[in-house]
Amino acid sequence: MKILVATEKPFAAAAVNGIREIVEGAGHELALLEKYTEKEQLLEAVADADALIVRSDKVTADVVAAAKNLKIVVRAGAGYDNLDLPSCTERGIVAMNTPGQNSNAVAELALGLMIYMARNQFNPGTGAELLGKKMGIQGFGNIGQLVAKKAQALGMEVVIFAAQRSEKHEGWNTVATLEELYSTCNYVSVNIPAKPETKGMLGYDLLSKMPKGGCLINTARKEIVDEAGLDQVLAERPDLKYATDIAPAAYAELKEKYGKQIFATPKKQGAETAEANMNAGLAAANQIVGYFATGCTKFQVNK
Ligand code: 3PG
Repeated sequence: MKILVATEKPFAAAAVNGIREIVEGAGHELALLEKYTEKEQLLEAVADADALIVRSDKVTADVVAAAKNLKIVVRAGAGYDNLDLPSCTERGIVAMNTPGQNSNAVAELALGLMIYMARNQFNPGTGAELLGKKMGIQGFGNIGQLVAKKAQALGMEVVIFAAQRSEKHEGWNTVATLEELYSTCNYVSVNIPAKPETKGMLGYDLLSKMPKGGCLINTARKEIVDEAGLDQVLAERPDLKYATDIAPAAYAELKEKYGKQIFATPKKQGAETAEANMNAGLAAANQIVGYFATGCTKFQVNK
């Protein structure tokens, strides 16, 4: 089988080597399309691929249509909003993610962003400490749980949003509404997937409830934040801050208007560690090899 790794933002070389070992060791062929700039390149590369590994690369309906032999696509990472699942399902293509494999890298970045914002973005001037501050967690999956533990280790008071408590919330303080989370926490880390029901859910109403000096940390997806609402709240509340790993569509304009109130990494950094590249890349390769060998669909997201 031909297994294509198509990554606009490539894996580290060591991870690619690891993927190659798994793929070729199982008797398959590896093809690489890295740092591509045009969709045409992806359409061409997928034409004869039996399996596809991507990161945030968009596997849209036309990509699926061009991939005539495709049997499985694995998003090496957690969020699979970049995969057109209905198109995959229609063609009987198995779509998977690799949950948990890059969670620690993302959680560490969330903490890094928080420290960066608390310390005046490393500019001269007086910052603030995190010790004793209240940290809210919206989204208590693999990443949210790690952010919570790390924030607790910094001496923060951690509160989890949980509409309903379950086993995973044992030992944690929870609040049942987002209103309570946002109105009581100095920092909120958002760790939820982009879905129709989460798109634009964080806007003026919630953000304006944050206490003085509040800061939202978004290492999830830009679509979750309603940009018009963000613009309005940053204008009305010069004390509020927004740090994100995924620049808003109008970042340049927002940066111009609000300066140090807003910060976005130049390119999504969350999973950009040697460890996360290795974990997610190798997991993706193993899942494909396993699927071809035994039909295992453990991480299928379009069942
Ligand atoms: C994920 O959903 O796993 C992260 O957002 C990582 O995305 P990336 O692979 O594009 O860095």
